[in-house]
Amino acid sequence: MSTPTVDLTGRRALITGGGSGIGAATARMLAAAGATCVIADIDAASAASVAGEIDGTVAMMDVGDPAAWRALVEHHGPFDLAVLNAGVATNQLKPDGALPVLELDDERYRRIMSVNVDGVVYGAREVLRHMVATGTGDVLVTASVAGLAPIAPDPIYGLTKHAVVGFVRSMAAAIDQHPEPIDVHISAVCPGFADTNILADDAKDMIRTLGLPIMQPEQVANTMLRALAERRNGAQWVVWAGRDDEAYEWTPVIDLMDPA
Ligand SMILES: NC(=O)c1ccc[n+]([C@@H]2O[C@H](COP(=O)([O-])OP(=O)(O)OC[C@H]3O[C@@H](n4cnc5c(N)ncnc54)[C@H](O)[C@@H]3O)[C@@H](O)[C@H]2O)c1
Repeated sequence: MSTPTVDLTGRRALITGGGSGIGAATARMLAAAGATCVIADIDAASAASVAGEIDGTVAMMDVGDPAAWRALVEHHGPFDLAVLNAGVATNQLKPDGALPVLELDDERYRRIMSVNVDGVVYGAREVLRHMVATGTGDVLVTASVAGLAPIAPDPIYGLTKHAVVGFVRSMAAAIDQHPEPIDVHISAVCPGFADTNILADDAKDMIRTLGLPIMQPEQVANTMLRALAERRNGAQWVVWAGRDDEAYEWTPVIDLMDPA
């Protein structure tokens, strides 16, 4: 696994959920490539620990709170690179025969929608305002292979990740159609299972029992760098243990914007 070469000197990067797992690994790689990093996380202690390693700045925030986004940009922005990565699972990756959604309580449902969906939409709105005004910038969204394929044990997680994949693809199309050409790129990184805190120990055991591989978060961070190096607008980068990353290919059905 070689890390793609990309020079981020002078870039100001935001990494949400940067205190742990994939976000922390990505922040370390972005900093090593020259970026100045702001680590935004609801867990201030872990964010401070990562920021301390890379001479970054901490912003404690809940990504599902629009007011927190405005305060973040006011105090720590603007950003010309953003990794909208914070996410949670419903912690129901335990197939016990029952349909998972039957066990879902309202609070858990609202929470995952708030972090995984609202957090990406509010974040994109706030960081893209500056990028569109200056005509340049990069946004990466951490989706999941669960945004491209079904995930039976956690359909609500699958819902949120399909939602952000659709958002990224549609935003990329809107950027391409912007009346004045802008050099702004948005793409999604879609990891398989990674060894981070989002997976409870029993979930990791179950994944291994099924014979599925679990990768290190650095492999995902590597793909983030590739996405930044290639800047393929609207791409969804699939990352899976033991395999080279690749851009997902859809079969076109119909072009909604084409009158023909
Ligand atoms: N680990 C995997 O197997 C895997 C696979 C595919 C996609 N993902 C996605 O990767 C992203 C990163 O997750 P991870 O695997 O590194 O897990 P993680 O739990 O190690 O990291 C998630 C981080 O997000 C932070 N966070 C949670 N809610 C937040 C909120 N409301 N506001 C701000 N920060 C918040 C947490 O404090 C934590 O630091 C998530 O979007 C997740 O869905 C993970």
